[in-house]
Amino acid sequence: MKVAVVGATGLVGRKMLQVLEERNFPVTELIPVASESSVGREITFKNRTYKVVGTREAIQMKPQVAIFSAGGETSLTWAPQFAAAGTTVIDNSSAWRMDPAKKLIIPEINADTLTRDDKIIANPNCSTIQMLMAIAPLHKKYKIKRMVVSTYQSVTGSGLKGITQLEGEREGKEVKKAYAHPIDRNCLPHCDSFTENGYTKEEMKLVNETCKILNDDSIKVTATAVRVPVTGGHSESINIEFERDYNLDDIRNLLSQTPGVVVQDDPSQNIYPMALTANEKDEVFVGRIRRDFSRENSLNLWVVSDNLRKGAATNAVQIAEYLNKQQLL
Ligand SMILES: NC(=O)c1ccc[n+]([C@@H]2O[C@H](COP(=O)([O-])OP(=O)(O)OC[C@H]3O[C@@H](n4cnc5c(N)ncnc54)[C@H](OP(=O)(O)O)[C@@H]3O)[C@@H](O)[C@H]2O)c1
Repeated sequence: MKVAVVGATGLVGRKMLQVLEERNFPVTELIPVASESSVGREITFKNRTYKVVGTREAIQMKPQVAIFSAGGETSLTWAPQFAAAGTTVIDNSSAWRMDPAKKLIIPEINADTLTRDDKIIANPNCSTIQMLMAIAPLHKKYKIKRMVVSTYQSVTGSGLKGITQLEGEREGKEVKKAYAHPIDRNCLPHCDSFTENGYTKEEMKLVNETCKILNDDSIKVTATAVRVPVTGGHSESINIEFERDYNLDDIRNLLSQTPGVVVQDDPSQNIYPMALTANEKDEVFVGRIRRDFSRENSLNLWVVSDNLRKGAATNAVQIAEYLNKQQLL
C-alpha cells in the first residue's frame, strides 16, 4: 500500500514511521511529506531511503492512505485535496475533530462506525484518547454523569519545540520558546491557547471530544490541563461520578479486561502508572483506583499513556489497520 505521512519530519510523524514499521503495516511505498523547507531531506523506513516531498507532489503520487500530523492549518488546506484525489486521510490535528460530518475515532471504542465513504477521519486529542480508553468501559456499565479531570502533560505534546525549550533550559542555552514561561522546574496551567470562556483549547477538547466519541451529550466534563517538565507521556487525575453505584472489584475487572488498558494498582508495593514507565508503550495504564468518599457513586483514577504513541501515532495506525482489514480503503 502506498502510504503518505504528512509531517514526517515532526515528533508525531517520526513516531508514526516507527509505529508503521513496528506493526508491520503493509507499506509498499512510503511518501514522506513535510514543509517546503524539508523537501529533499532523506528519511529511512524499512531499510529503504525516501526523499521528503511537498504536499502537491504527494497528492499526484495517489497514496491510498495519508496520515497527517502537520498542524491544523496544513490539514484544513490539504486534507480535502488528498480526499478529492481518492486518498483516505487520517488526521492528527484538531482541524476536523468537531466537524459533524467527520468521525472521531478511537478504534477500541467506535471504529465500527467507519464506512468506505469516510475520506477524512479525525484522530482525537492525545489527552482525550487515554482518558476515554479508561472510562469508556465504565460508562457503558455505570453511565457517567460528570467527570473532573486534571492533566499533567509532557512537553512532547508541544512537538519538537517543547523538547527544545526544556532541554535548552536544562543546558542553560538560549532557545526558541514553546511556552510563555520557563517549563523546567515549573508547572504551567496552560496547554494550547486560552478561549473566551476562560478555559484553554486543550481543556475544551477534553469536554467536547468526550461527548462526541461516546455519542452522549449528557456527560458533563470539566478540565484543567497542565504542562509539566516531563517527556515520557501524559498523566491524568480523573474523578468520575456515575449515575448508579458501582462495585470497586468490578471496576478493576472491567479495566483489566479492556484491550489496550493495563491496570497497575498495588499501592502497598508502590505500583502505579508513571510517565517514565509508560514511555514507548502503546497501552494506557490505570492505577490509584479508589472510591471518592466525598460524593455518592464517585471514583478516582490515575491514567498515564505515551502521548506520541496511543495519543497520536499508534491510534492513527490502528485506524489504518482497521480500514485495511475491513477493506474500507
Ligand atoms: N505531540 C503530540 O503529542 C501530539 C498528539 C496528538 C496530535 N498532535 C498533532 O500532530 C501535529 C504535529 O505535531 P508534532 O508534535 O509532531 O509537531 P512538530 O514536531 O512541530 O512537527 C510538525 C510537522 O509538520 C510539518 N509541517 C509544517 N508545516 C507544513 C506544511 N505546510 N506542509 C507540510 N508539512 C508541514 C513539519 O515539517 P518541517 O519539519 O518541514 O517543518 C513537521 O514535519 C499537530 O497538529 C499536533 O496538534 C500532536
